[in-house]
Amino acid sequence: MANKENFGSKFGIIAAAAGSAIGLGNIYRFPCEAGANGGGAFFIVYLAIVILMGLPLMLSEFVIGRRSGKNPVGAFKALAPESKGWGVIGYLGVLAAFLILAFYSTVAGWTIDAVGKSIINYYHGLDKDTIQGDFNNLMNESWQPILSEGIFIFLTAFVIVKGVTKGIEKYSKILMPILLGILIVLCIKSLTLPGAGKGISFFLKPDFSKITGKVLISALGQAFFSLSLGMGCLITYGSYIAKKDNLTSTAFAVCISDTLIAILAGIVIFPAAFTFGIRPEAGNELAFVTLPMLFNQMVGGYFFCLIFFLLLTIAALTSSISLLEVPVLYLTEQLKTSRKKATIYSAIGAFVLCVISSESLHADTPLKLFGLNVFEALDTFSSTFLLTVGGLLTVIFLGWKMKKADFYDEYTNGGKVNIGLRKIIYFIIKFIAPVAITVILITQFIK
Ligand code: TRP
Repeated sequence: MANKENFGSKFGIIAAAAGSAIGLGNIYRFPCEAGANGGGAFFIVYLAIVILMGLPLMLSEFVIGRRSGKNPVGAFKALAPESKGWGVIGYLGVLAAFLILAFYSTVAGWTIDAVGKSIINYYHGLDKDTIQGDFNNLMNESWQPILSEGIFIFLTAFVIVKGVTKGIEKYSKILMPILLGILIVLCIKSLTLPGAGKGISFFLKPDFSKITGKVLISALGQAFFSLSLGMGCLITYGSYIAKKDNLTSTAFAVCISDTLIAILAGIVIFPAAFTFGIRPEAGNELAFVTLPMLFNQMVGGYFFCLIFFLLLTIAALTSSISLLEVPVLYLTEQLKTSRKKATIYSAIGAFVLCVISSESLHADTPLKLFGLNVFEALDTFSSTFLLTVGGLLTVIFLGWKMKKADFYDEYTNGGKVNIGLRKIIYFIIKFIAPVAITVILITQFIK
């Protein structure tokens, strides 16, 4: 696509794709899911899924995006014009983008709230019960969360209107390495706490007897969520990747950095949670109560706390940008809406859903679906259903619908890079990943 912007440099695309991948999914959602699913059992399954399904799916999305040069809806139509129906993957993706953005912005709102509290040194000297009580109050408030969510969605839309390359690249390149640095410092601190042994063994010691259908589907959903897969997000980014860039090394770099950040988050949170008496199944509190408690115990806690939550907000922003980009690109390319209008419409849609999601967290909420509040329902439905089914259809499309020669051609940059693993990768995409995802989708219904 000659008329389309490309990412400026190799590092630019890695930074942007890693920026999409690394976010609240790593630092907030990963510990929540690991905590709720038995810790070590979840962790080992998660790792296996990232390697066996995440990486091949990521490559598939990059190939589909770059080959077609289009948004997810247009991409499937362009690559298989004779067989209609595949565009549905793209539509599912647009739907998923809105649903995910809604609850994602809710969590991002709490993060912004934590930035505000850090600035005024609010957490200083508070005990666990007070921090916990405050966090629960925040859920039950009406206006404060809406305000911070509004700010977050506005910022997302602002960066999008400015254009992909300039917008995204500039922010993620410098800031993500700093986030990594802070996480390492936090790990060291956490590992010196009295609950470190218990926390680490909960998080990392695999207990195979705890692997159930629910653990499998949660790990699959979390892996796709964390790597931004299964809804065309990386198809969209793939359409911006330059023809000369090496897709394999990009995908490896993204998977490794995303997984590393998630593991570090677990090493920070579980020892601290065990030390402060916060249950691993505590859910939302796990990150938002444990971390302020941890900062309270640190020399220089004020600065670490402030910088950490600021960077987490920015990490969330580089992820939400990639989410919003999906409907925006769909509207501009398929329906010929102007970029500005497409962004404004999509942002308003996401905001409305987000308000419903955050209001559903009130203790006495009537906003429930299937016994879950709307926030949880959006989260669970999008990650364990939309993303997994989207991912499944994507690998099936690549393995069975797209021509093998086209895949190799795109994947090897027209034969210019020799990828030793290409046959294995193709085999995984065609056979192993579809079977494994299907099995996991089915086993969740077996007790
Ligand atoms: N991966 C991001 C995170 O971990 C969230 C995200 C961005 C996402 N784009 C996505 C999740 C696409 C699923 C699909 O925070």
